[in-house]
Amino acid sequence: MERLRIGLIGWGTVGSAVGELVRGGPLPVTLVSVAVRDRQRPDLPKGVEIGAPEAALEADVVVELAGGLDGPLAWARQALDRGMPYVTANKALLATHGKELAELAERRVAALLGSASVGGGTPMIETVAHLAATGDIEHIRGVVNATTTYILSAMGEGRTYDEALGEAQEAGYAEADPSFDVDGRDAAQKLAILASVAWGKWRPESDVTVEGIVGLDVEPGQNIRLVADATKDGMSVKPASLDRSDPMARAAGVENVLEITVADAGVFRVSGPGAGGRVTAGAVYADLARLVAGERPILFSQG
Ligand code: HSE
Repeated sequence: MERLRIGLIGWGTVGSAVGELVRGGPLPVTLVSVAVRDRQRPDLPKGVEIGAPEAALEADVVVELAGGLDGPLAWARQALDRGMPYVTANKALLATHGKELAELAERRVAALLGSASVGGGTPMIETVAHLAATGDIEHIRGVVNATTTYILSAMGEGRTYDEALGEAQEAGYAEADPSFDVDGRDAAQKLAILASVAWGKWRPESDVTVEGIVGLDVEPGQNIRLVADATKDGMSVKPASLDRSDPMARAAGVENVLEITVADAGVFRVSGPGAGGRVTAGAVYADLARLVAGERPILFSQG
């Protein structure tokens, strides 16, 4: 079998963990280029072209883990326009330009994959897509931002906001700009992606009503979580004080929880580590496995 040649853009917490998996994992995949801002980093892989993001377009598949919007939009357009698969963890890109990119992928018969954009290593997009195929989804509700769960659960144990945010950053859970986490935008982007998959129609982040956690007082023992909630008609992200028996309240540290209610079927839940290099890299690797198997999935496709 021909090996799938990977052009990787981004060598941060997740990118370097993808590099490890590609090198040591069982799939017939090879890393051929890495684009990184700091080309002098000591941990860059040997025997691989270290270059500009555009070098990834010479591979068989682009894996974009750089973050940001303008660069990724341009690379995604170029890759998909050439019929190349585009794999990304970039929730901002998908929650802002997902419709355009899915339509382009359909026109060019290219794959668009983003398992790692929601849930870290927890298969949330896959679970929602599976359940949407079984019946009508009525409601989705989740704790989908690890940084705020980490902060709120640590504050509930008596630590200060700043101590808890510092720990979440040190562990590699927070976004490069943590205001995306604490202002609720990261959760809003993930919710928009999940809702788009649940109801078969792309919905942007701008449709989500958002309230963050900055300035919240958390009493020791109190269970506040940043809860994302969507129906066909509306989407919101806001902090909520939860009953101890609520499965959302049991999400602690880095854990994400998603609850999906399906008409005439009941409530389904999926939970697991929602951030971190190795687990998020696992979701990217699972997307690569689908490409190796010959699948050409398109996120948000209604076809
Ligand atoms: N900053 C994100 C979070 C990382 O805290 O959940 C995973 O998307």
